[in-house]
Amino acid sequence: MSFYITTPIYYVNAEPHLGHAYTTIAADVLARHMRQRGEDVFFLTGTDEHGEPVADAAHAQGLEPKELADRNAERFKVLMPQLNASNDFFIRTTDPQHEAKVQEVLQLVHDNGHTYKGTYEGWYCPRCADFKVENEILDGNRCPIHEIELTREREENWFFRLSTFQEALEKLYADQPDFVMPPRHFNEARSFISQGLQDVSLSRARLKWGVTVPWDPDHVFYVWFDALLNYVTALSYAQPGEDLTDRFWPATYHIIGKDILKFHTVFWPALLMAAELELPRHVFVHGFLLGGDGRKMSKSLGNVLDPFEVIDEYGTDALRFYLMRDVAYGSDGAVGMDAVRARYDAELANEYGNLASRTTAMIERYRDGVVPAAAPEIELDELSSDVAALMDRAEPTQALELIWQQVRRLNRYVEEQAPWKLAAAEDPRLDSVLATLARSLRTLTELLAPYMPVTTTKLLEVLDADRLTALRPLFPKRK
Ligand code: MSP
Repeated sequence: MSFYITTPIYYVNAEPHLGHAYTTIAADVLARHMRQRGEDVFFLTGTDEHGEPVADAAHAQGLEPKELADRNAERFKVLMPQLNASNDFFIRTTDPQHEAKVQEVLQLVHDNGHTYKGTYEGWYCPRCADFKVENEILDGNRCPIHEIELTREREENWFFRLSTFQEALEKLYADQPDFVMPPRHFNEARSFISQGLQDVSLSRARLKWGVTVPWDPDHVFYVWFDALLNYVTALSYAQPGEDLTDRFWPATYHIIGKDILKFHTVFWPALLMAAELELPRHVFVHGFLLGGDGRKMSKSLGNVLDPFEVIDEYGTDALRFYLMRDVAYGSDGAVGMDAVRARYDAELANEYGNLASRTTAMIERYRDGVVPAAAPEIELDELSSDVAALMDRAEPTQALELIWQQVRRLNRYVEEQAPWKLAAAEDPRLDSVLATLARSLRTLTELLAPYMPVTTTKLLEVLDADRLTALRPLFPKRK
């Protein structure tokens, strides 16, 4: 079956930070897991390059928007291999093919009668590039996300008739309780809809940095419409000479942070309906990584933790493991170097790393590297299906917890069976104990591969060799 997974496309007004890495890693873990299950996977990420936030940031630095976009898009592009993200394509919304496709799709929306010209007046956050509705606004007319003062904007715009999709969206939410997950966010989206939808701006007249509205070239499309469409446009040109749309659309999972819920769970399905396109199967919403001060990590709050620093010190696998393990997926969680270090030492070096090196060392020492053919005493068959069921619900943290319980169980098993004593006594049961360890370790390592692709690949090579050789520590103990 085909499986299409996306990350949000990242704004190029700032450099990549740990929040971006987190979304990417979560999507990558799911993509790798699905590839292991034999699905036909397409994994998309990229950069969101138009709109006011980028234009403003560029002008503040004395640059043209495209110069800033080129510079920062490159930073996001190189982040992907550093995170070991296995994305199949990297879209930039300044790609001419994307721009042409956006015009084509939105022209159809216009031809289908879902647009009109009108005057918009409202409270606007230039960092979100979003008009806020009354019940979102903080005291003192401030943005609920950036906490900066909103500006009063009045402009002649093209509008998208979002309000006419009220019933269709209500029906979608009634029919598909797993359209948005986890349920807390499903309810949030549903209640946003039930409060009554207002039409939204589809174009900006003053702004020049965007995709030109083909039927009114003095306007550019509002950046969110251009951006959301990346999920569809990418498929048409990601593979030179081949259109992948029929093979992969509709998307299986859109992975997003909770700050962009409204766009993906309300605007996006309505826009797709207007464009006569199928709707994605699921939108999976994750929480925020919080800085040490307990607030959202964001450049404007100045509490950003640099993913490159974490990678330099601990390695990519440790970063991936830490983020998937320490922050319950779907909830908010504080992150910091001390916690990375603690997980690394206690779990990667001591628990998993030790299990792997003890197992390989004992098989080498006692059985000359050959895994005995004896029947194992522990079967982990159910674990794989439980993990798969959790991944289907986008619960990578819980899946990792299940795997980890078995890592611990096997370490207890080693202590209880004390293979060194069985060896000293030349007890034939040593064969089944070593077979149990080798096979279970292999299963666990396969299940861990989506989380820690580098280390597990090395270990699987050792475990699959005709003769195991004792491992050097997988995760060297830190001084
Ligand atoms: N460009 C839009 C998305 C358009 S998708 C059609 C955007 N970009 S962003 O760069 O600001 O954020 C991208 C993603 O990173 C969002 O899902 C956001 O939630 C996530 N994160 C940014 N900071 C974050 C944390 N501190 N913690 C976790 N994720 C957060 O929004």
